[in-house]
Amino acid sequence: MWGGRFGAGPSAVMRDINASIGFDKRLWQQDLAGSKAHAAMLGRQGIVATADIEAILAGLEQIEAEYAAGGLVEDAALEDIHMHVETRLAELIGPAAGRLHTARSRNDQVATDFRLWVRDAVDAIDAGLGAFEAALLARAEEHADSVMPGFTHLQVAQPVTLGHHLLAYVEMTRRDRSRFADARARMNECPLGSAALAGTSFPLDRASVASALGFDRPTANSLDSVSDRDFALEFLSCVVMTGLHLSRLAEEIIIWASQMFGFVKLPDAFSTGSSIMPQKRNPDAAELVRGHSGRLLGCLTALNVTMKGLPLAYSKDMQDDKPPVFEAYDLLALSIAAMTGMVETLSFDTARMRAAAAQGYSTATDLADWLVRVADVPFREAHHITGRAVKAAETAGCLLADLPLETLVAIDARIDKRVYEVLSVEASVASRTSLGGTAPANVRARIAALRGA
Ligand code: ARG
Repeated sequence: MWGGRFGAGPSAVMRDINASIGFDKRLWQQDLAGSKAHAAMLGRQGIVATADIEAILAGLEQIEAEYAAGGLVEDAALEDIHMHVETRLAELIGPAAGRLHTARSRNDQVATDFRLWVRDAVDAIDAGLGAFEAALLARAEEHADSVMPGFTHLQVAQPVTLGHHLLAYVEMTRRDRSRFADARARMNECPLGSAALAGTSFPLDRASVASALGFDRPTANSLDSVSDRDFALEFLSCVVMTGLHLSRLAEEIIIWASQMFGFVKLPDAFSTGSSIMPQKRNPDAAELVRGHSGRLLGCLTALNVTMKGLPLAYSKDMQDDKPPVFEAYDLLALSIAAMTGMVETLSFDTARMRAAAAQGYSTATDLADWLVRVADVPFREAHHITGRAVKAAETAGCLLADLPLETLVAIDARIDKRVYEVLSVEASVASRTSLGGTAPANVRARIAALRGA
């Protein structure tokens, strides 16, 4: 393809270090789509004769059918997917194949292919996250009233509803999806027609190529077009953030599934056994989601480091942009599917969750709030009085709700029997009706809003 000025071919090592077909074959559909759009435009603009364009387009169709049937024959000597397609085209239609590369370089070609691929990846991830979100919403609706402990510092803090807890992950997922959508809008410009780096003297119609490929517009600067990989870095940043959120839920599932918590039981379909301990039911899928999130950050770091020192325009280092993006996509897609499956099938031990919510004097804040609201005690003083009540319960070895009224009155005479109305975990969550609070009514309203939005 480029041997004109060389006397001898590359060494075997040169050939191997140069070859990217082993991974960039994943771009074959995008490469064919880009070539078809470019060829059609060359014909429309009268840059290449119609008869040649017809032969080129027919040949590209045939290659598409061959590749779809698994017929891509890898040859390291042909370097990359672009050379594979062009070489096969020449085998099929002869010398006219050589006209396809008019006013084009592999630099703008790969930039275009890769943007198309990442755009498709964003769409696939969005669909996966949509299903994940639907699973969370369904379980949140089922458990709008179920009470569980809310934690800070992993210490029981205040009772919350399980529905509210699950909806927290829907909010994260919504933000993740909006970040992907934002990145997609920014990446949706077509570099094709920038040629090697400087543009071309041929009278291209870049706008028509851009629209044929579903881009919003052509890119504005040829040097930037072939050297920009922001779209891949942004994609990876979105992937890392999404993976981080999945990892936090995975971590919670792992904790909840431990015997000491016993909040959830994983179904057989998402558990594994031990080769030595017959009783084991391990949360491997959740652990791998947690583990994969670390690898995702590795992918983002890899591409950041590849790009940070590169002068304009194209350098071959940039061929290394694809493995981390492909790896990150594969890991995230699998992680989303695994988390969706787990959320759909987890069984929650709501009795155990409720009992745990009552531990740790979790309604102490409710007692303090009651003193403020009913007895007009300043909050700081109410905090102190409640602290003494907690101490009394600790000494008696009982829950706050089980302290006798005399004990409470002895601590502060302004307390009366109405206080018991706020000391149960159900009363506590039902009272948290402030905007964004955990009350079952809020959970139902938010689910309806999220489903409507
Ligand atoms: N395989 C190359 C890549 O992925 C395509 C671009 C090659 N361009 C070049 N001038 N060698 O980056």
